Amino acid sequence: MNISEALEKRRSIRSFSSRPVARELLLELAQAGRLAPSASNLQAWHFFFLIDPELVKKVDLFSPGLSGHPPVILAICSDMGYARVHGSPNSERYGCIMDAAMAAENIMLKALDLGLGSCAIKSYNDAAIRKLLKLPEDYRIEILISLGYPEGEPRPRRLRPMEEILHFNAWQEEA
Ligand SMILES: Cc1cc2nc3c(=O)[nH]c(=O)nc-3n(C[C@H](O)[C@H](O)[C@H](O)COP(=O)(O)O)c2cc1C
Repeated sequence: MNISEALEKRRSIRSFSSRPVARELLLELAQAGRLAPSASNLQAWHFFFLIDPELVKKVDLFSPGLSGHPPVILAICSDMGYARVHGSPNSERYGCIMDAAMAAENIMLKALDLGLGSCAIKSYNDAAIRKLLKLPEDYRIEILISLGYPEGEPRPRRLRPMEEILHFNAWQEEA
């Protein structure tokens, strides 16, 4: 699949079949994530693929934003201890979040290429999931991504009109 096609086709998937996802595919997703750009090439990210059905069920329970019962949940976390040593004050403020977002999009596009569906999830109970993942204190959960084989079709896209959001050079009030 070429990049333009992938950009057009990627949608948030909120309905999954129970078909399991082979571990080799998850490794391909991790590889796609680690190829993303990161500020100062910091790469403070860690990729937690939750594949134990009991654990997935518990994380699902503590994630109001998650739908469709995905067989796999990915938690992209940042090691803030590593970021403090190897990064700058901006790494903690926004760098690691942006890096995780870059990795997330790489992973969601790669998932599409592998026939998988995905959805970024930011609505979850941070404290509960930290506990379930047994995260070290310095690790920060940046985003969850649901993963699995899609079922059904997503709703049509709703995009803001191009003329509302496109600018060349400086901002100008409409004439
Ligand atoms: C940072 C971020 C957080 C999101 N959180 C959620 C969420 O908690 N639950 C959910 O169903 N979708 C979530 N989404 C998916 C968006 O709702 C979705 O990307 C948007 O509606 C556009 O649809 P599309 O991805 O199909 O193009 C999130 C997306 C982003 C980028």
